[in-house]
Amino acid sequence: MKNQNRLLWEKGDFTEIAKWMRRSGEEIVASLGIQSRLRVLDLGCGDGTTAVPLAQAGAEVLGIDIAENLVAAGNKRATEASLFRLKFQEGDACDLRGIEDRSFDLTISIFGAMFAPKPFAVASEMVRVTKPGGRIVMGNWIPNDPTSFVSQLLRISAAFTPPPPEGFISPMTWGMEANVVEYFTKAGVSKERISMIKDTYEFVALDKNPGSLIESLGRFYGPTMNAFEAAEKNGKVEELRDQLIELANAQNRNADVGVSIPATFLRVTIDL
Ligand SMILES: C[S@@+](CC[C@H](N)C(=O)[O-])C[C@H]1O[C@@H](n2cnc3c(N)ncnc32)[C@H](O)[C@@H]1O
Repeated sequence: MKNQNRLLWEKGDFTEIAKWMRRSGEEIVASLGIQSRLRVLDLGCGDGTTAVPLAQAGAEVLGIDIAENLVAAGNKRATEASLFRLKFQEGDACDLRGIEDRSFDLTISIFGAMFAPKPFAVASEMVRVTKPGGRIVMGNWIPNDPTSFVSQLLRISAAFTPPPPEGFISPMTWGMEANVVEYFTKAGVSKERISMIKDTYEFVALDKNPGSLIESLGRFYGPTMNAFEAAEKNGKVEELRDQLIELANAQNRNADVGVSIPATFLRVTIDL
């Protein structure tokens, strides 16, 4: 049987969306206080929005992603930037077999592992591969958050897409504090070691307009591509496009000179 999780992310070309996300990726890395010699795992790393600046900061980085095309794009970026301590490989956040226990000082996953279908397994694997005394950092979208462009994008997209199969656990559960605590305590982490704050990501392109972000999402971002395909069948493409453009325009803070759209997220830190 085909892995639907993998198909979703290989469907489009997330590198085209990641271009809008580079600045915030660099800012997250800058906030982590990376020193060289640190071994870092970036889970659901895409083409390296955080993995590349992590390696540039001196860490030895392994990026793991379920999508073959994004792993190839990440390795190309590493080679082009002569980052020889940065490697990307295919893998599933639900099952990191082949990765030894206690291998990493830092395991990071920015809007990555949240999309894996088995959250308890994901939490357990992240804890297993991180060294005692090390850290896990996650960025997770918050469901229905009115201040988050992505939460609203996913909410609108879901309203146009057929319901998921029974038993499907929404990735957005990772954006709710009670769920995060449940996933990690089940993986053996005590509550005091889990801290959560709201942080903000920014989608930025000063030479573009909000409509071009929506166009890119419709062409390259799996969840929005699925919404447009379903809308096409129901004659609702215009309705979907209008709602998304209205959202992007309403949230754009930089209407005069391009696009700068904020997106609130839950930043989770586990001190092991
Ligand atoms: C929204 S993108 C974020 C990518 C990257 N972290 C960034 O900030 O640009 C989600 C990523 O998670 C990956 N992903 C989804 N499910 C996964 C899984 N089960 N295991 C590993 N990666 C997964 C996707 O292939 C995709 O690259």
